[in-house]
Amino acid sequence: MTIKAGDKIPSIELKTMTSDGPDGITTDDLFNGKKVILFGLPGAFTPTCSAKHVPGYVQHADAIKAKGVDTIACISVNDAFVMGAWGKDQNVGNKVMMLADGSAEFTKAAGLELDLVARGMGVRCQRFSMIVDNGVVQSINIDEGTFDKTSAEQAISDLG
Ligand code: BEZ
Repeated sequence: MTIKAGDKIPSIELKTMTSDGPDGITTDDLFNGKKVILFGLPGAFTPTCSAKHVPGYVQHADAIKAKGVDTIACISVNDAFVMGAWGKDQNVGNKVMMLADGSAEFTKAAGLELDLVARGMGVRCQRFSMIVDNGVVQSINIDEGTFDKTSAEQAISDLG
């Protein structure tokens, strides 16, 4: 079942890339006591994700954080090496945390799988964005095929 408003974020360990290599980070550490915008997408270096989705959050990071958001994080079913390289390519700096869900554990626990097997990409993550307050989903938007509901601009509007 797909995660929805009012649900607790599943407790999973994700990976981030650091100067010392991949490091684990738990969702509890990420979300507890914080307001977080988490957005997910089908894959690092894919056209829409690289040209629109991530750049929008980088561009609007200050406006999002001005609305009381502590962390903006991007998650994808890719390994930490790929997410680290993509973050550098996108110049995310400290604006957007790049989270690797390499074995799709978070994606599956949240019911956000996207079957791209026929396209040679395996099981990936749907394009979504959510506002999470202290580990509880406040709102979630999911894009099916298009890119409109999960943009940074929509997140700013949803934050009120
Ligand atoms: C994209 O452009 O974001 C995309 C392309 C192929 C598969 C999934 C996503």
